[in-house]
Amino acid sequence: MTRRTVFAERARIPTGVSILEVLARAKELEAGGREIIHLEIGEPDFDTPANITRAAVRALDEGYTHYGPSAGLPEVREAIAKHVTQTRGVDTAAEQVVVTTGAKAAIFFSILALVDPGDEVIYPNPGFPSYEATIKMVGAVPVPMPLVEERDFSIDLDRFASLITAKTKLCILNSPQNPTGGVLPRDVLEGIADLAERHDFYVLTDEIYSRIIYDGTFASYYALPNAGERTVLIDGFSKTYAMTGWRLGYGVMPRSFAPMVAKLFSNASSSTCTFVQRAGIEALTGPQDSVDNMIGEFRARRDLLVDGLNRLPGFVCRIPAGAFYVFPNITGTGMTSMALQEFLLEEAGVAVVAGPSFGEYGEGYIRLSYANSRTNIQTALDGMAAALDKR
Ligand SMILES: Cc1ncc(COP(=O)(O)O)c(C=O)c1O
Repeated sequence: MTRRTVFAERARIPTGVSILEVLARAKELEAGGREIIHLEIGEPDFDTPANITRAAVRALDEGYTHYGPSAGLPEVREAIAKHVTQTRGVDTAAEQVVVTTGAKAAIFFSILALVDPGDEVIYPNPGFPSYEATIKMVGAVPVPMPLVEERDFSIDLDRFASLITAKTKLCILNSPQNPTGGVLPRDVLEGIADLAERHDFYVLTDEIYSRIIYDGTFASYYALPNAGERTVLIDGFSKTYAMTGWRLGYGVMPRSFAPMVAKLFSNASSSTCTFVQRAGIEALTGPQDSVDNMIGEFRARRDLLVDGLNRLPGFVCRIPAGAFYVFPNITGTGMTSMALQEFLLEEAGVAVVAGPSFGEYGEGYIRLSYANSRTNIQTALDGMAAALDKR
């Protein structure tokens, strides 16, 4: 009798391997007494603003300790709908909102609700690793859409059009982007919306970094006049309000989609934690000065880091317009992304992530997050310069 394999195929899908490797090795080095500067981590280093934390404590005192409706508490869906109406300029109703345990869950359950095995899904590459993993987990076919460095990591519409087939069911967009910090311009979004209409596919637009934008204005795919009935907007609280550990995000979708996504989500999670949802209302409607301060600080760090990286031998770094990542081209060092990741960790004590962790088109790049203090960023730059000089 042949022995069964223990794990299902989907459990063996590799994701974000290099991120885990770099974290594990950094921990080993730290345990041995080395000081490591962490520029690999994708979360704000700020604390959640106190008014939001207090709102959660109040909600606990008020008894928000029970299951809630699977699509979210009505008043929270209402607050999110209002926020989306204001920020995207599109009338949005509470019935279109599904509140989830982080944006990741909104992405996962939206894909689960829309995509059948064998369907093709176009997704950005390099991109947030969960996209490709989720597409594979549902048995669909991932179709990578390369981002173009010379266009500040935007999309070539002709290339995009060439990826569309009769099996294309969904396209995933992310702007501002992880890992490049690139922001998709409005004319590109309009081109994709035309193609979506013409070829009858859906678009999931992940706009979780929409508030973290430095140059120009943010163009939302959801806000396009013809995005309408075939679009799912993803957003959340993790990045804007430094609430990564709270697990609060949402999807906004056509009214007919929301009950389907909520049904799938409820079987995995029943509902999103109710006192956390209540804190979300405070985040959206309370004072926004801590968000503005955080973005001001991120901008200063971005400028420091980009300037320093462009002085390193073999590095060419574009100025990202959003998010809190830079994605320098490192081909001039003569090293692969993975070799450079290892070199910088071992020789400079700086943890970064090799570009291919975000997809095959990430080769030739590394990702650095500037969710770290300016002092640490400067120390990291000095360490990298010294290590590269000695090579
Ligand atoms: C592009 C992108 N989408 C979604 C997420 C997940 O956010 P959340 O913490 O709300 O699940 C991340 C987190 O790194 C991200 O970079």
